[in-house]
Amino acid sequence: MIKGMIILLSEQPTLEFIKNMPKAELHLHLEGTLEPDLKLKLAKRNHIDIGQNTIEEVKAAYEFDSLTSFLNVYYPAMNVLQKEEDFYELAMAYLAKAKEHHVVYAELFFDPQAHTSRGISFETVINGYYRAIENSHTLGIHSSLIMCFLRDMSAESAAETFEQALPYQDKILGIGLDSDERGNPPEKFAEVFKKAEDAGFNITMHCDIDQEQSIENIRQALMDIGVDRLDHGTNIVEDQKLVDYVKEKGIGLTCCPVSNSFVVDDMKGKEIIELLDQGVKVTIHSDDPAYFQSYVSDDLFALSQKYELTSSQVIQLVKNAFDIAWTTDDNKKLYLDSVDKYVENFQ
Ligand code: ADE
Ligand code: ZN
Repeated sequence: MIKGMIILLSEQPTLEFIKNMPKAELHLHLEGTLEPDLKLKLAKRNHIDIGQNTIEEVKAAYEFDSLTSFLNVYYPAMNVLQKEEDFYELAMAYLAKAKEHHVVYAELFFDPQAHTSRGISFETVINGYYRAIENSHTLGIHSSLIMCFLRDMSAESAAETFEQALPYQDKILGIGLDSDERGNPPEKFAEVFKKAEDAGFNITMHCDIDQEQSIENIRQALMDIGVDRLDHGTNIVEDQKLVDYVKEKGIGLTCCPVSNSFVVDDMKGKEIIELLDQGVKVTIHSDDPAYFQSYVSDDLFALSQKYELTSSQVIQLVKNAFDIAWTTDDNKKLYLDSVDKYVENFQ
């Protein structure tokens, strides 16, 4: 048994090994899980003309080679989400997919401003999503919500959204920041993030790949805002002082290699592995799986194939995610033990 395990750990993992391993998803936008079939179904139900009638036509519109061009396809599609039931169905459809990939723990981003800005109430969005969160245990998944501000909207709009969220504080685990980073640095949102932290929310921010001011934005997020995690953030390898800082504080970086390969034509695997080798808590996730056609196991597998990772490295990436999850130490231990048990028993 031990001999078998040693051979297995030093070899490249199979997709089956990765897919069946218990995993945590910490970087996933619920709106990015809108698969073409559900998009068409909701468009029909809500009498919305999206300009496409077949799955092939929807997929043909998925042409992006940068964060901006991706977001230009991403936001208009959300128009099919109109009623509480639509948000519920979207989240439940994702959770069913997550179960297939043996995700047992999920912290899920949602973007209320992408909906309130087109006349959908905050209440409709959160009630729909939260009903799915409550139901996720029926699929063997513990899940929760992270509310993100859209950084290309104003700081005032973020502050208003924060006020709208306060009555639902028990339904929201953390606060994040996403959308187009160009010209929208962390410091723009310092005030609202201070309020979020004071109110007891966990906080995180996207620091997307190869931005104009990547290092300065990472510095602001870490030092000025005091985030608990960074989403993406792999440009940090360019600054050893910042790498040492996240290492010392145990701050995790939630990376999404397949998403990276769409928006910058590079998985950033070299950087991810360098950080892993330095002992930084990097983790692997799927970002917007319906658009990048890659759920969490696919991201781990794609990275492991392209960069010839060993099973041992993949296990470390999976364990890091449980380690940096916003849950109790007792829960983390249970999840980490379940990974060990899975590896021990894998034939
Ligand atoms: N919203 C959805 N996906 C995103 C990404 N990769 N970066 C920033 N905002 C996003
Ligand atoms: Zn993201």
